[in-house]
Amino acid sequence: MKALACCLVIFLSVSVVLIYGDSRQWGRRVSGDRLLDYAVVVNNSLPVPEKSSIYRYLPAAGAYRPPNITAIFTRDNVPGGKGGFAGIVSGGVNQSNVTLKLTSKPYQRFNFTIEIYGK
Ligand SMILES: *[C@@H]1O[C@H](CO)[C@@H](O)[C@H](O)[C@H]1NC(C)=O
Ligand SMILES: *[C@@H]1O[C@H](CO)[C@@H](O)[C@H](O)[C@H]1NC(C)=O
Ligand SMILES: *[C@@H]1O[C@H](CO)[C@@H](O)[C@H](O)[C@H]1NC(C)=O
Ligand SMILES: *[C@@H]1O[C@H](CO)[C@@H](O)[C@H](O)[C@H]1NC(C)=O
Ligand SMILES: *[C@@H]1O[C@H](CO)[C@@H](O)[C@H](O)[C@H]1NC(C)=O
Repeated sequence: MKALACCLVIFLSVSVVLIYGDSRQWGRRVSGDRLLDYAVVVNNSLPVPEKSSIYRYLPAAGAYRPPNITAIFTRDNVPGGKGGFAGIVSGGVNQSNVTLKLTSKPYQRFNFTIEIYGK
């Protein structure tokens, strides 16, 4: 009985990981921040083993005081753990801009939702 319960727990934990894929967060929301940028980045190009995209957020040109980034979310929309990896190349939390690199697992597509908050 104990062994069965143990197996069940392991099974459920693995399922959660598989369902949610690789989503990451940097920083955290603070009161008074707002959505600066929202994007869905997809790469479906099939013949390429490893797909990648660079996503760059820059403040509007000529902004008097560019907002400071408080939080960055990358949510993997591909179920089953077949999505990709997200990483920060430059910029980020407490800066005015960020460059993200999205990479697929070999021979998989990716579909990321990106949300950037700042104030
Ligand atoms: C998809 O990934 C390939 C390989 O990295 C790249 O050449 C192509 O430009 C990417 N397409 C998009 C829409 O980012
Ligand atoms: C990407 O994922 C979003 C959210 O699940 C979905 O609405 C959208 O259709 C997907 N885009 C592609 C090209 O698969
Ligand atoms: C950003 O700034 C806040 C407030 O100064 C600080 O608490 C936080 O650790 C900083 N985060 C990073 C990633 O630099
Ligand atoms: C962003 O916040 C950090 C920590 O509070 C501060 O040091 C930095 O000067 C701010 N940057 C901008 C562009 O406002
Ligand atoms: C991004 O912000 C940093 C300071 O936060 C600045 O030094 C850098 O020039 C900015 N990069 C771009 C491409 O605007």
